[in-house]
Amino acid sequence: MSLDIVVGTQWGDEGKGRVVDVLAANVDYVARFNGGDNAGHTVTVGEKTFKLHLIPSGIIQPHTIALIGNGLVINPEILVQEMNMLKESNVEVNPERLKISFAAHLITPGHLALDKAKETLRGGKKIGTTLRGIGPAYNMKASRNGLRMESMLDPVKFHHQITDHIHEINRQLTKLYEMDPLDAESIADQYTKYARILAPYISDPSQILSEAIRNGKNVLAEGAQGTLLDLDHGTYPYVTSSHPTAAGALIGLGLSTSFVDRIIGVTKAFQTRVGEGPFPTEVFGNIAERLRGTGVNPWDEFGTTTGRPRRVGWLDGVLLRYTSRINGLSELTVTKLDILSGIPVIKICVAYQMNNKSFPDLPLGPADLSPFTPIYEKMEGWEENITGARHWKDLPLQARNYILRIEEICGVPVKFISVGPERSQIITID
Ligand code: IMP
Repeated sequence: MSLDIVVGTQWGDEGKGRVVDVLAANVDYVARFNGGDNAGHTVTVGEKTFKLHLIPSGIIQPHTIALIGNGLVINPEILVQEMNMLKESNVEVNPERLKISFAAHLITPGHLALDKAKETLRGGKKIGTTLRGIGPAYNMKASRNGLRMESMLDPVKFHHQITDHIHEINRQLTKLYEMDPLDAESIADQYTKYARILAPYISDPSQILSEAIRNGKNVLAEGAQGTLLDLDHGTYPYVTSSHPTAAGALIGLGLSTSFVDRIIGVTKAFQTRVGEGPFPTEVFGNIAERLRGTGVNPWDEFGTTTGRPRRVGWLDGVLLRYTSRINGLSELTVTKLDILSGIPVIKICVAYQMNNKSFPDLPLGPADLSPFTPIYEKMEGWEENITGARHWKDLPLQARNYILRIEEICGVPVKFISVGPERSQIITID
């Protein structure tokens, strides 16, 4: 019996979906625990690429049961679209295979409008949100006037609740933000239709998973976003509104700490970020274009959800050590190592510098990184294309040295290395 948790150790987009898909081959249940459709998880199986925003990417493995935990905020329009997309790709989606927490919160067009209005008002200080209504939905949850999935179980009452909710948001939109009001009646009609579709899927993941673990089943908790976007432990205020950390998995699924077995961190071989906020190891120019790709491949560094080009940089060892500690990682997966092939000198940040003093660790967390400059170590790169490597010994010496240095910096053993987007392009280290 076990609960394994997969978390991102950077600012999201680490390739967690890819790792979850591989790990899901040996588990019975896969569960998402935070965020909403701000996430984008890409999984490539043979010729087919799946882009998932809400449903755990482990659902692509045919034997798994997928769960959406109480920690999520759900846009039902996106969820229904995703369910249909999977069905069209012959992935089985039914209430036996997909279970949605009664306590997850709903995202409505009201939240989308507020997200946009707030970002516009922030002007030069905008966060660069995905505009998916995430912040406003969590805001209402914390203010204790949100709408939970369980309200969909009574469609008549639900219609009234949605109407009231949109009226409440309309007051803010018109009075505070000078925007046009939304049409409460048509939104309520639409949401009542979603309620009829989704009601059979509503259940209690906490109960289902606790019982399953006690009965010897294996559960994989799939985080969205990354630790540096955590509301408390990330680069505040340039963060999301949920907890993409190992502790967030327990809250977001209603599970006991005593179940936890492995905590698997995922890091890219370099650093990326979408949206605003600090990024000490960011690079520009030719090397940035080299790391980002041109956008022609699904794995190039352009947002899965928004299509925005991602900011790119060298791997930041100070932040990786920090996120390893926050999560208590038991192992690390390094993704996209293949992208570094052909770069003659690879830099890795091993400490920060401020006033001629070196800081291997952050004195006060990552919110204000502006006083620091990165101290880099230069490592010899490799020429070889490594996308065909399947074993540790297949990797060039310089690539192995790079991985060993990452392990040394964060004190966590690397167990998987991904060298391409396809399911089989992974090296497992025993
Ligand atoms: P929000 O979650 O849409 O409110 O956006 C807050 C911040 O988190 C922005 O900088 C987004 O770009 C970032 N963000 C949210 N979700 C993801 C993700 O899945 N990957 C990467 N960045 C994300």
